[in-house]
Amino acid sequence: MIGAGGTIGKMMTAALHGHDVITVGRNTGALTFDISEDTAVENLFKQVSPIDAIICTAGDSMTTHLSEINKASFMVGIQQKLWPQIHLVLSGIKHLNDNGSITLISGKMGELPAKGSSGKAFVNGAINSFVMAAAQEMPRGIRLNVISPSKASDINEADLIAAYKRCLTTPVNGEIIRVGYHQQ
Ligand SMILES: NC(=O)c1ccc[n+]([C@@H]2O[C@H](COP(=O)([O-])OP(=O)(O)OC[C@H]3O[C@@H](n4cnc5c(N)ncnc54)[C@H](OP(=O)(O)O)[C@@H]3O)[C@@H](O)[C@H]2O)c1
Repeated sequence: MIGAGGTIGKMMTAALHGHDVITVGRNTGALTFDISEDTAVENLFKQVSPIDAIICTAGDSMTTHLSEINKASFMVGIQQKLWPQIHLVLSGIKHLNDNGSITLISGKMGELPAKGSSGKAFVNGAINSFVMAAAQEMPRGIRLNVISPSKASDINEADLIAAYKRCLTTPVNGEIIRVGYHQQ
């Protein structure tokens, strides 16, 4: 569980009792790895495999008004949220048990963007598209899904937990699972 110490991660880590959870973060968690570094991802999986599931609730992107956004702002999302999660999939499938599960994270701004969210929206949209496409080619019964949460204050914790449990324990594959979209 990468990002277990964050806002979203904390909301559902406690719900994973009954599972043997390995918490991972940049500076927090049982193991510390920076998943924006390719070698760190490879080393992480070498250390923990074989595993049944990968959950990622980590990844930064920039909120900046369009008039001020620049290449560096866009690159934050690509380098800290998009590529690390794609890499988790590409590397993770080599280490997951048969019928394993991968659950990435995107966000509501990918589908229902607010002003100032283009630096977030494009990353979330790309993660969603990647999941829908790549899920069709997962080997050995491995499933790939993405949780797309609304902002934390709009999320009902029970709904978030149910979404993650659905990814972990049901045959769902290639789905964008939306959480908290209807709260105001
Ligand atoms: N919170 C929201 O309202 C919300 C809404 C929609 C979508 N999201 C998305 O959900 C994800 C998590 O959000 P959050 O609010 O829970 O974030 P957060 O509170 O900042 O927590 C992020 C967690 O991920 C870890 N992390 C971040 N970058 C990492 C890296 N490169 N390598 C390893 N671990 C890393 C952090 O570890 P350390 O603490 O050790 O650095 C921390 O445990 C983000 O992608 C965000 O865009 C959040």
